Amino acid sequence: MSSTQLRKGMSPSEIDAFVGSVIGQLSLREKVAQMTGSSSLLKLAADTYLYRHYNRTPYPAGGIPRFGVPPLLFSDGPRGVVMSRSTCFPVSMARGASWDPGLEHRIGEAIGREVRALGGNFFGGVCINLLRHPAWGRAQETYGEDPFHLAAMGTALVRGVQRHNVMACAKHFACNSIENARLKVDVRADERTLREVYLPHFRACVDAGVASVMGAYNRLRGEYCCESPYLLTRVLREDWGFQGFVMSDFVFALHDTLAAVSAGLDVEMPSPRVYGGRLMEAVRSGRVARGVVDESVRRILRTVARFAAAEDPQAYPRGLVCHPEHVALAREAAEKSMVLLKNDGNLLPLDRREIRTLAVIGRLADFPNLGDHGSSWVHPPYAVTPLAGLREYLAGSVEVRCAGGSDRHRTQALAAWADAVVVVAGCDHADEGENIQGRGKVGGDRDTLSLRPEEIRMIRTVSAENKACAVVLVGGSAVTMEEWRQSVPAILMAWYGGMEGGTALARTLFGEANPGGKLPFTIPRSAEELPFFDKNAEAIDYGYYHGYTLLEKKNLEPAFPFGFGLSYTSFACGPPVVEEQADRLKVSAEVKNTGPRVGDEVVQVYVGPGRAPARRGAVDRPAVDRPVKLLRGFRRVHLEPGESSELTFEIPYDALAWYDPDRGTWRQDESGYAVSVGTSSRAGSFSPGA
Ligand code: BGC
Repeated sequence: MSSTQLRKGMSPSEIDAFVGSVIGQLSLREKVAQMTGSSSLLKLAADTYLYRHYNRTPYPAGGIPRFGVPPLLFSDGPRGVVMSRSTCFPVSMARGASWDPGLEHRIGEAIGREVRALGGNFFGGVCINLLRHPAWGRAQETYGEDPFHLAAMGTALVRGVQRHNVMACAKHFACNSIENARLKVDVRADERTLREVYLPHFRACVDAGVASVMGAYNRLRGEYCCESPYLLTRVLREDWGFQGFVMSDFVFALHDTLAAVSAGLDVEMPSPRVYGGRLMEAVRSGRVARGVVDESVRRILRTVARFAAAEDPQAYPRGLVCHPEHVALAREAAEKSMVLLKNDGNLLPLDRREIRTLAVIGRLADFPNLGDHGSSWVHPPYAVTPLAGLREYLAGSVEVRCAGGSDRHRTQALAAWADAVVVVAGCDHADEGENIQGRGKVGGDRDTLSLRPEEIRMIRTVSAENKACAVVLVGGSAVTMEEWRQSVPAILMAWYGGMEGGTALARTLFGEANPGGKLPFTIPRSAEELPFFDKNAEAIDYGYYHGYTLLEKKNLEPAFPFGFGLSYTSFACGPPVVEEQADRLKVSAEVKNTGPRVGDEVVQVYVGPGRAPARRGAVDRPAVDRPVKLLRGFRRVHLEPGESSELTFEIPYDALAWYDPDRGTWRQDESGYAVSVGTSSRAGSFSPGA
């Protein structure tokens, strides 16, 4: 190849030849520089601790100006871009509740454009760790408890971001779901649990062409994830054929130069601690073979070059940052993520023509509550609080008054005064989030899944005084509600709804938007019913069951099942028609809007082993222990009153296989399948004969 400069439009084979020739011309120092972040720790400290300083810049690594190869320029997410005054979307868990991968793709595109407009090329916000237990402090950064659903949402974000030639990074690989102990905890899990529960969504992102994977801080089966040959070489590269590069989590993830580089960890971020000079020294002394470094550099350069050489679909001027279209998308996402959990007597939607006075009560009522204050902290130019959203929406027609809820008498008086009351309760960045040491109580794992005692008292006070009481929950994960849920007619999960969250909330409470979101996790009646969780664990066993699979196995009724959410209209769904084709199940079902309003329904397909109970009287015993059923398809549909839609799902048998650790292969269950289609994990009816 004649040219030694990377150029736009190069083909994959030209890129491979270019990278090969570049590697042949680099010094050891230059090679190691590709593998090492070049920020000072001072920058990281400033970004972390001078937290009102929002002019963050990307974290660079590598780059070779003389060959026209740009450096990696990394920026975090996932609720937007953490640099500058960018658009703040609802947190990932809220977007998970939308069950709308098309929406997530558009959010990915908006994020990709803003990364580019801010000079970055590498987005670290595809967090797809499975929510094993809702006390996990960073629950809000991921999409939920189910691998199939996580894969659908995560791959949509990857594709959206990468459409703008921004490399996406899927994190944290793997089994990262305890925050306080993240730097030390050793997760123990058997092979089936890993392959079937904790890893499939990462594989889906690899299949979708994700550029990069970030290794986790924690250990897996005794090895630090960033130094695990099992994770980084065997699973990721040998079994899945991953072609991109692996980066470390920041600062504390690497412990040993030799272990990391030989496991296949390509880039240490954000600054040289274990790589840099130590890696050069290890190569010079012969402890690390030059070929190992060359392979890492090849993986990095090939990926960077592929993205840099691709033609851009558009230009990226600075004006794209917090562009009005992105802000409108943030509002749409907030509306589509609302989950209506309870609505006795159709209290909601409220009617602005019927009420004159509205009380908004709670410490979170007028608080710009965007979520965690760790690495995912986005700083939009403004954030609409619940109170501000309601005031704006009701201006001129309804008088709105607010109280913090801590003064019982004032709460009582306000509840008695109002025609209707909205109570806002839940969490903020102090209760849950990334565990940032040295900034007071910020984040970490949750101490309890219940609301604070004072919020429970407040709800009881209000509901005793005024029957028209709707509780709005804010947070990034499950809240147990047994202490109070029977005492209120309406409960709406509104999450950390992003910069337009308050606007979306007002429009939803008053029926301008109809809630169509569904829980991306199970809400149990009690935390006792969930897997063991210890935020300070040195070691912990991750079992094959959690969330809905665990509750079904134990025959426990959840407070609100996975996939559940009500609407202001009603839907009828099913029964499914199942066709066993040569390589797939073809499942069809009709869904109809049977109520008076336009609305969205999420139709969900669950498949379990064995034939349908209706036909055989009992489910056949599967060859191995398997969940009663697992989510294998879903679609969000928008229907006018009276409108119906015929949905078809194609489910390849390969997707239904289980992992046989003895043979090291995936196997299909021979005993047939039971299929259920419905509007939650508990609402479906099994197919009459699969
Ligand atoms: C977090 C990552 C993040 C990185 C860079 C780490 O503490 O675990 O999710 O991407 O910091 O900010």
